[in-house]
Amino acid sequence: MNLQTYLSSTPPNLAKAILAFAEAVKRIDGKIRTAETGEAGSQNTFGEEQLKLDVLADRIVFEELKKSGVVAIAASEEQSDEIELSKEGEFSAAFDPLDGSSLVDVNLAVGTIFGIWEGKGFIGKSGKEMRAAGYAIYGPRTTFTIAIDSNPVEFTLQTDGDWKLTIEKMEIGEGKMFAPGNLRACAENKEYLTLLDFWAENGYQLRYSGGMVPDVHQILVKGKGVFSYPGSESNPAKLRLIYECAPLAYVIEKAGGASSDLEKSILAKKVEFLDQRTVVCLGSKDEVDRFDKFLTI
Ligand code: AHG
Ligand code: MN
Ligand code: MN
Repeated sequence: MNLQTYLSSTPPNLAKAILAFAEAVKRIDGKIRTAETGEAGSQNTFGEEQLKLDVLADRIVFEELKKSGVVAIAASEEQSDEIELSKEGEFSAAFDPLDGSSLVDVNLAVGTIFGIWEGKGFIGKSGKEMRAAGYAIYGPRTTFTIAIDSNPVEFTLQTDGDWKLTIEKMEIGEGKMFAPGNLRACAENKEYLTLLDFWAENGYQLRYSGGMVPDVHQILVKGKGVFSYPGSESNPAKLRLIYECAPLAYVIEKAGGASSDLEKSILAKKVEFLDQRTVVCLGSKDEVDRFDKFLTI
Protein backbone atom coordinates (compact mmCIF):
# COMPACT_ATOMS: atom_id res chain seq x y z
CA MET A 1 0.00 0.00 0.00
CA ASN A 2 1.26 3.52 -0.66
CA LEU A 3 0.69 6.76 1.26
CA GLN A 4 -2.09 8.09 -1.03
CA THR A 5 -4.07 4.86 -0.67
CA TYR A 6 -3.56 4.84 3.10
CA LEU A 7 -4.87 8.41 3.29
CA SER A 8 -7.99 7.68 1.20
CA SER A 9 -10.03 7.22 4.39
CA THR A 10 -8.68 10.44 5.98
CA PRO A 11 -10.67 13.71 5.58
CA PRO A 12 -9.39 15.09 2.24
CA ASN A 13 -8.00 18.38 3.56
CA LEU A 14 -6.14 16.70 6.41
CA ALA A 15 -4.75 14.21 3.88
CA LYS A 16 -3.58 17.18 1.76
CA ALA A 17 -1.72 18.69 4.72
CA ILE A 18 0.01 15.37 5.45
CA LEU A 19 0.90 14.90 1.77
CA ALA A 20 2.41 18.40 1.74
CA PHE A 21 4.82 17.30 4.48
CA ALA A 22 5.55 14.06 2.59
CA GLU A 23 6.42 16.10 -0.54
CA ALA A 24 8.64 18.44 1.48
CA VAL A 25 10.43 15.43 2.98
CA LYS A 26 11.24 14.08 -0.50
CA ARG A 27 12.76 17.41 -1.47
CA ILE A 28 14.70 17.76 1.80
CA ASP A 29 15.96 14.20 1.37
CA GLY A 30 17.46 15.17 -2.00
CA LYS A 31 19.18 18.21 -0.49
CA ILE A 32 20.62 16.34 2.51
CA ARG A 33 22.30 13.80 0.21
CA THR A 34 24.39 16.43 -1.58
CA ALA A 35 24.12 19.98 -0.15
CA GLU A 36 26.95 21.65 1.75
CA THR A 37 26.81 21.13 5.51
CA GLY A 38 28.26 24.56 6.37
CA GLU A 39 26.79 27.36 8.45
CA ALA A 40 24.38 29.79 6.83
CA GLY A 41 25.99 32.74 8.61
CA SER A 42 22.74 33.49 10.43
CA GLN A 43 21.15 32.58 13.74
CA ASN A 44 17.60 31.53 14.43
CA THR A 45 15.43 33.33 16.98
CA PHE A 46 17.01 31.35 19.78
CA GLY A 47 20.54 32.45 18.95
CA GLU A 48 21.49 29.06 17.53
CA GLU A 49 23.70 28.96 14.44
CA GLN A 50 21.69 27.96 11.38
CA LEU A 51 23.11 25.61 8.81
CA LYS A 52 22.44 26.21 5.13
CA LEU A 53 20.43 23.00 5.33
CA ASP A 54 18.23 24.31 8.20
CA VAL A 55 17.33 27.34 6.08
CA LEU A 56 16.77 25.27 2.95
CA ALA A 57 14.59 22.68 4.70
CA ASP A 58 12.56 25.44 6.34
CA ARG A 59 11.90 27.11 2.99
CA ILE A 60 10.89 23.82 1.36
CA VAL A 61 8.32 23.01 4.07
CA PHE A 62 6.77 26.48 3.85
CA GLU A 63 6.53 26.18 0.06
CA GLU A 64 4.79 22.80 0.16
CA LEU A 65 2.38 23.86 2.93
CA LYS A 66 1.44 26.99 1.03
CA LYS A 67 0.88 25.00 -2.15
CA SER A 68 -1.50 22.64 -0.31
CA GLY A 69 -3.95 25.52 0.33
CA VAL A 70 -5.31 23.82 3.46
CA VAL A 71 -2.90 25.21 6.08
CA ALA A 72 -3.92 28.59 7.47
CA ILE A 73 -1.01 29.15 9.87
CA ALA A 74 2.45 27.61 10.00
CA ALA A 75 5.09 27.91 12.71
CA SER A 76 8.65 26.68 12.36
CA GLU A 77 11.47 26.19 14.86
CA GLU A 78 13.56 28.38 12.55
CA GLN A 79 11.17 31.39 12.63
CA SER A 80 10.19 33.69 15.48
CA ASP A 81 6.55 34.17 14.52
CA GLU A 82 3.80 32.10 13.05
CA ILE A 83 3.10 32.84 9.39
CA GLU A 84 -0.27 33.06 7.66
CA LEU A 85 -0.28 30.88 4.55
CA SER A 86 -3.91 30.87 3.46
CA LYS A 87 -7.14 32.62 4.45
CA GLU A 88 -9.24 29.54 3.68
CA GLY A 89 -6.99 26.98 5.36
CA GLU A 90 -8.50 25.00 8.21
CA PHE A 91 -5.32 23.80 9.98
CA SER A 92 -2.27 25.10 11.78
CA ALA A 93 0.98 23.24 11.32
CA ALA A 94 4.07 23.40 13.55
CA PHE A 95 7.33 21.83 12.46
CA ASP A 96 11.04 21.38 13.03
CA PRO A 97 12.31 21.26 9.43
CA LEU A 98 15.60 19.59 10.33
CA ASP A 99 16.00 18.08 13.76
CA GLY A 100 19.52 17.09 14.75
CA SER A 101 21.07 19.20 11.99
CA SER A 102 24.46 19.19 13.75
CA LEU A 103 24.58 15.44 13.00
CA VAL A 104 24.51 15.88 9.21
CA ASP A 105 28.28 16.44 8.83
CA VAL A 106 29.05 13.26 10.80
CA ASN A 107 26.47 11.41 8.69
CA LEU A 108 24.15 10.31 11.49
CA ALA A 109 20.40 10.17 10.97
CA VAL A 110 18.38 13.39 11.19
CA GLY A 111 14.68 14.13 10.87
CA THR A 112 11.75 16.45 10.17
CA ILE A 113 8.98 16.65 12.81
CA PHE A 114 5.44 18.03 12.39
CA GLY A 115 2.13 18.42 14.17
CA ILE A 116 -1.19 19.48 12.64
CA TRP A 117 -3.80 21.29 14.73
CA GLU A 118 -7.39 22.11 13.84
CA GLY A 119 -8.11 25.85 13.44
CA LYS A 120 -5.91 28.93 13.45
CA GLY A 121 -2.95 29.32 15.80
CA PHE A 122 -1.41 27.38 18.67
CA ILE A 123 -1.54 29.55 21.79
CA GLY A 124 -3.89 28.20 24.45
CA LYS A 125 -4.18 24.84 22.72
CA SER A 126 -2.68 21.55 23.85
CA GLY A 127 -1.24 18.58 22.01
CA LYS A 128 -4.46 16.68 22.63
CA GLU A 129 -6.07 18.95 20.03
CA MET A 130 -3.78 17.79 17.25
CA ARG A 131 -5.45 16.03 14.33
CA ALA A 132 -2.27 14.29 13.17
CA ALA A 133 1.46 14.27 13.81
CA GLY A 134 4.48 12.60 12.36
CA TYR A 135 8.09 12.73 11.36
CA ALA A 136 10.56 11.72 8.69
CA ILE A 137 13.97 10.17 9.18
CA TYR A 138 16.82 10.68 6.74
CA GLY A 139 19.02 7.67 7.48
CA PRO A 140 20.13 4.65 5.49
CA ARG A 141 16.44 4.65 4.48
CA THR A 142 14.12 7.63 4.28
CA THR A 143 10.99 6.92 6.27
CA PHE A 144 7.80 8.83 7.03
CA THR A 145 5.83 7.93 10.16
CA ILE A 146 2.35 9.31 10.80
CA ALA A 147 -0.31 8.95 13.45
CA ILE A 148 -3.79 10.24 12.69
CA ASP A 149 -6.45 8.75 14.93
CA SER A 150 -5.06 5.26 15.48
CA ASN A 151 -1.72 3.46 15.78
CA PRO A 152 1.15 5.06 13.87
CA VAL A 153 2.32 3.59 10.57
CA GLU A 154 5.62 3.86 8.71
CA PHE A 155 6.23 4.42 4.99
CA THR A 156 9.59 4.09 3.24
CA LEU A 157 10.63 6.17 0.24
CA GLN A 158 11.17 4.02 -2.87
CA THR A 159 13.54 4.82 -5.74
CA ASP A 160 10.58 5.79 -7.95
CA GLY A 161 9.48 8.41 -5.38
CA ASP A 162 6.56 6.41 -4.01
CA TRP A 163 5.97 5.98 -0.26
CA LYS A 164 5.50 2.26 0.50
CA LEU A 165 3.84 1.10 3.73
CA THR A 166 6.57 -0.71 5.69
CA ILE A 167 5.11 -0.93 9.22
CA GLU A 168 1.33 -1.40 9.41
CA LYS A 169 0.89 -0.91 13.12
CA MET A 170 3.34 0.46 15.67
CA GLU A 171 2.66 -0.62 19.24
CA ILE A 172 4.69 -0.03 22.39
CA GLY A 173 4.99 -2.63 25.15
CA GLU A 174 7.66 -2.93 27.84
CA GLY A 175 11.39 -3.66 27.58
CA LYS A 176 14.80 -2.56 28.78
CA MET A 177 16.16 -0.02 26.29
CA PHE A 178 17.14 3.57 27.16
CA ALA A 179 18.05 6.74 25.25
CA PRO A 180 19.21 9.21 27.93
CA GLY A 181 19.41 12.79 26.63
CA ASN A 182 21.19 15.65 28.41
CA LEU A 183 23.46 13.63 30.69
CA ARG A 184 25.26 16.95 31.37
CA ALA A 185 22.35 17.66 33.71
CA CYS A 186 23.46 14.77 36.00
CA ALA A 187 26.18 16.93 37.59
CA GLU A 188 23.47 18.95 39.34
CA ASN A 189 20.40 16.77 38.86
CA LYS A 190 21.30 13.88 41.19
CA GLU A 191 17.88 12.28 40.72
CA TYR A 192 18.66 11.82 37.04
CA LEU A 193 22.04 10.33 37.96
CA THR A 194 20.23 7.84 40.23
CA LEU A 195 17.93 6.84 37.36
CA LEU A 196 20.98 6.42 35.12
CA ASP A 197 22.45 4.06 37.75
CA PHE A 198 19.17 2.14 37.80
CA TRP A 199 19.30 1.62 34.03
CA ALA A 200 22.98 0.63 34.12
CA GLU A 201 22.52 -1.81 37.01
CA ASN A 202 19.43 -3.49 35.63
CA GLY A 203 20.64 -4.68 32.26
CA TYR A 204 19.11 -1.97 30.06
CA GLN A 205 20.41 -1.67 26.51
CA LEU A 206 21.85 1.80 25.70
CA ARG A 207 20.67 3.11 22.32
CA TYR A 208 21.30 6.84 21.94
CA SER A 209 22.28 8.65 18.73
CA GLY A 210 21.82 12.29 19.76
CA GLY A 211 19.04 12.78 17.23
CA MET A 212 15.65 12.90 18.94
CA VAL A 213 13.78 11.52 15.93
CA PRO A 214 15.71 8.25 15.46
CA ASP A 215 16.07 7.94 19.25
CA VAL A 216 12.27 8.04 19.61
CA HIS A 217 11.60 6.05 16.42
CA GLN A 218 13.50 3.05 17.78
CA ILE A 219 11.00 2.86 20.67
CA LEU A 220 8.17 2.61 18.12
CA VAL A 221 9.94 0.08 15.92
CA LYS A 222 11.31 -2.14 18.71
CA GLY A 223 8.10 -1.65 20.72
CA LYS A 224 9.86 -0.82 23.98
CA GLY A 225 12.12 1.61 25.79
CA VAL A 226 12.44 5.18 26.95
CA PHE A 227 13.78 8.54 25.73
CA SER A 228 14.43 11.28 28.29
CA TYR A 229 15.58 14.89 28.21
CA PRO A 230 15.27 16.53 31.64
CA GLY A 231 17.22 19.59 32.76
CA SER A 232 19.24 21.15 35.55
CA GLU A 233 20.05 24.73 36.47
CA SER A 234 23.12 24.98 34.21
CA ASN A 235 21.79 22.63 31.53
CA PRO A 236 18.05 23.29 31.24
CA ALA A 237 15.64 21.18 29.23
CA LYS A 238 15.83 22.62 25.72
CA LEU A 239 13.48 20.58 23.57
CA ARG A 240 10.55 22.56 22.18
CA LEU A 241 6.93 21.83 22.95
CA ILE A 242 5.15 22.46 19.64
CA TYR A 243 7.99 21.70 17.22
CA GLU A 244 9.44 18.55 18.78
CA CYS A 245 7.89 17.20 21.99
CA ALA A 246 4.12 17.41 21.37
CA PRO A 247 4.19 15.83 17.87
CA LEU A 248 6.44 12.98 19.04
CA ALA A 249 4.34 12.51 22.21
CA TYR A 250 1.23 12.29 20.01
CA VAL A 251 2.79 9.50 17.93
CA ILE A 252 4.07 7.67 21.04
CA GLU A 253 0.69 7.86 22.83
CA LYS A 254 -1.17 6.66 19.70
CA ALA A 255 1.10 3.59 19.85
CA GLY A 256 0.06 2.88 23.44
CA GLY A 257 3.09 4.52 25.05
CA ALA A 258 3.22 7.46 27.45
CA SER A 259 4.73 10.94 27.73
CA SER A 260 5.55 13.17 30.67
CA ASP A 261 6.92 16.58 31.62
CA LEU A 262 7.16 15.32 35.25
CA GLU A 263 3.68 16.65 36.03
CA LYS A 264 1.42 15.46 33.27
CA SER A 265 1.30 14.08 29.76
CA ILE A 266 3.11 16.31 27.24
CA LEU A 267 -0.20 16.33 25.34
CA ALA A 268 -1.97 17.99 28.30
CA LYS A 269 0.40 20.98 28.33
CA LYS A 270 -1.14 24.24 27.14
CA VAL A 271 0.93 26.18 24.62
CA GLU A 272 1.78 29.56 26.19
CA PHE A 273 4.28 30.81 23.60
CA LEU A 274 5.78 29.40 20.42
CA ASP A 275 9.32 28.86 21.74
CA GLN A 276 8.15 27.04 24.88
CA ARG A 277 10.61 24.39 26.11
CA THR A 278 9.80 21.39 28.28
CA VAL A 279 11.26 18.48 30.20
CA VAL A 280 10.27 15.42 28.22
CA CYS A 281 10.13 11.68 28.71
CA LEU A 282 8.60 9.41 26.04
CA GLY A 283 8.24 5.64 25.85
CA SER A 284 6.79 2.54 27.49
CA LYS A 285 4.25 3.34 30.20
CA ASP A 286 6.25 1.69 33.01
CA GLU A 287 9.44 3.47 31.97
CA VAL A 288 7.77 6.88 31.86
CA ASP A 289 6.28 6.19 35.31
CA ARG A 290 9.74 5.27 36.57
CA PHE A 291 11.17 8.55 35.19
CA ASP A 292 8.46 10.46 37.06
CA LYS A 293 9.08 8.56 40.31
CA PHE A 294 12.87 8.95 40.24
CA LEU A 295 12.88 12.62 39.23
CA THR A 296 10.01 13.91 41.36
CA ILE A 297 11.35 14.70 44.78
P1 AHG B 1 17.87 20.80 16.52
O1 AHG B 1 18.93 20.22 15.63
O2 AHG B 1 16.55 20.91 15.82
O3 AHG B 1 18.26 22.07 17.19
O4 AHG B 1 17.57 19.75 17.73
C1 AHG B 1 18.44 18.71 18.12
C2 AHG B 1 17.95 18.12 19.40
C3 AHG B 1 17.50 16.67 19.40
O5 AHG B 1 17.49 16.02 18.19
C4 AHG B 1 18.41 15.96 20.35
O6 AHG B 1 17.71 15.06 21.15
C5 AHG B 1 19.01 17.06 21.16
O7 AHG B 1 18.98 18.22 20.36
C6 AHG B 1 20.41 16.72 21.58
O8 AHG B 1 21.01 17.84 22.11
P2 AHG B 1 22.35 17.81 22.99
O9 AHG B 1 23.30 16.88 22.29
O10 AHG B 1 22.78 19.23 23.00
O11 AHG B 1 21.92 17.31 24.34
MN1 MN C 1 15.07 20.04 16.83
MN1 MN D 1 15.89 21.95 13.85
